[in-house]
Amino acid sequence: MQVQNKTLVAYFSWSGNAGTLAGQIERETGSDLFEIKTVTPYPGTYNECIEIAKQEQNNNARPALTESVVNMAQYGKVILCYPNWWGTLPMGVFTFLEAYDFSGKTIYHLVTHGGSRFGRSLDDIKKLCPRAVTGEGLSVSAFDTNPKDVTRVTTPNRTVTAWLRKLGMGQ
Ligand SMILES: Cc1cc2nc3c(=O)[nH]c(=O)nc-3n(C[C@H](O)[C@H](O)[C@H](O)COP(=O)(O)O)c2cc1C
Repeated sequence: MQVQNKTLVAYFSWSGNAGTLAGQIERETGSDLFEIKTVTPYPGTYNECIEIAKQEQNNNARPALTESVVNMAQYGKVILCYPNWWGTLPMGVFTFLEAYDFSGKTIYHLVTHGGSRFGRSLDDIKKLCPRAVTGEGLSVSAFDTNPKDVTRVTTPNRTVTAWLRKLGMGQ
């Protein structure tokens, strides 16, 4: 079995917050970066996007993703960055987590949100990846009203830096 000594930062982001923080984590940890991107893009306006996302959640959808991780076996740690969508992971992140064997890997979750912090996303990660270890997570508020106009999360975010140091992965 291949040594799992690398860290992957995998992120899904619609309005940029989780993506911005994923970029910071990539730089501060020297990890590889992977974007979880759906084949069908989400609408550009907030109201349309939340409608589609709600429908997908109601249908327990698994939207197809554009790319796969090359050689997931080399990663022992996955830092998963995503927005809270309707209380949990966007459905494309469900697709991602079901696509690989996370046995023996540790998943750290970073959630951007508009007030509901992690929601039930950690429970869903554990259900989707029962053989993974889950590490300490971090939630970052974006105080979301109109995320396409205002990206409220800026970097470097000191809470993220402190979290990475605490996990033993920071600079
Ligand atoms: C489809 C959708 C659903 C959302 N649902 C929630 C929610 O249930 N709870 C919450 O606190 N924020 C919710 N938000 C706000 C986002 O979590 C927040 O804006 C986040 O910072 C967006 O991250 P991103 O810029 O990486 O997409 C939602 C946003 C969208 C677009």
